[in-house]
Amino acid sequence: MSRMQPIKSEGTAPAYFSAHDLHAYYGESYIVQGVSFDIREGEILALLGRNGAGKTSTLRAIARAVDPVLTQGEVWLDHKPLHRMKDFEAAQNGVALVPEDRRIIPGLTVQENLELAQIAEPIGWSIERLYQHFPRLAERRDQEGITMSGGEQQMLAVARALARDVKLLLLDEPYEGLAPVIVHEIESILQEIKTHGITTIIVEQNAIAALHLADRAIILDMGQVVFDGTAQEVLDNEELRQEYLAI
Ligand SMILES: Nc1ncnc2c1ncn2[C@@H]1O[C@H](COP(=O)(O)OP(=O)(O)OP(=O)(O)O)[C@@H](O)[C@H]1O
Ligand SMILES: [Mg+2]
Repeated sequence: MSRMQPIKSEGTAPAYFSAHDLHAYYGESYIVQGVSFDIREGEILALLGRNGAGKTSTLRAIARAVDPVLTQGEVWLDHKPLHRMKDFEAAQNGVALVPEDRRIIPGLTVQENLELAQIAEPIGWSIERLYQHFPRLAERRDQEGITMSGGEQQMLAVARALARDVKLLLLDEPYEGLAPVIVHEIESILQEIKTHGITTIIVEQNAIAALHLADRAIILDMGQVVFDGTAQEVLDNEELRQEYLAI
C-alpha cells in the first residue's frame, strides 16, 4: 500500500484512523501542539479537556477546515492522507464534522436538508433508512429544520452526516443544551451507529456521558495530549478527572 503510512511503534498494522504529531495555528496563535492518537475502526473516542484546551481546534484540523492551519503532522483515515486534502476532499473521503451550532439550513424542511446532503457522491444511508433510525425526524419530515427543538436539530445534524458515506463522525458537543432524556435518545442513536462500523470522536463538556458512551478517551490540556487510555480508566481515576475535567 502506501509507503507514506506513519510508522507505528508497536510494529502492528496502521490504525484505521491516526493523527500523528498535529500542529495547528490560528494566525500567530499556536493552538494544537503536537497531538497524536489512533482509533480503531468502529471505536468511539471521547476527546475531553477544559474550556480552551483545543478540542474544537483538533476536530477542525482533522476535518481540514480552513482554520486552524495545520502546519505539521499527518492525519490518516482508512489509508487516505487527510493532511494532504482540503475540507471538501476530506468530506468526500468520509469525514463528517457536526459542529456545535449544527448548521441546519434555514428555509429547508427536514427532508430537504437530508436530500441536499445527497446531491453529490458518495451517498451513505438512504433517506428511508435514516427515518427508520430517527423516527422523530420521520414525523417531522415536512417541518422546517430550524424550527425543531435543539435535540431534534442535533438528530438531523447526525442524520445528515450519515446521509453521506461517512467513515469518521466528528461530534462537537452534541449534548449541549439538551435535556437528559434527549441526551439519552442521542446516546442510543450513537451506540446504534457504532454497530454499523462507523468510527466516532465525541467532544463533550458532559464528560461523564461521553465516557459512558466511549471505548477510549483522550484528554487535551493546552493543546497537548495529557492522557490516552480507556474511558473506564478516566471514570476510575478521580485525580485525573479533577485535574483536567473538573468532575
Ligand atoms: N478562530 C480563532 N482564532 C484565534 N484563536 C482561537 C480561535 N478559535 C479558538 N481559538 C483559541 O484556541 C484555543 C483552543 O480553542 P478551542 O475552541 O479549540 O477549545 P475547546 O477545547 O474546544 O474549548 P471549549 O470547551 O470552550 O469549546 C483557545 O485558546 C481559543 O481562544
Ligand atoms: Mg470547543
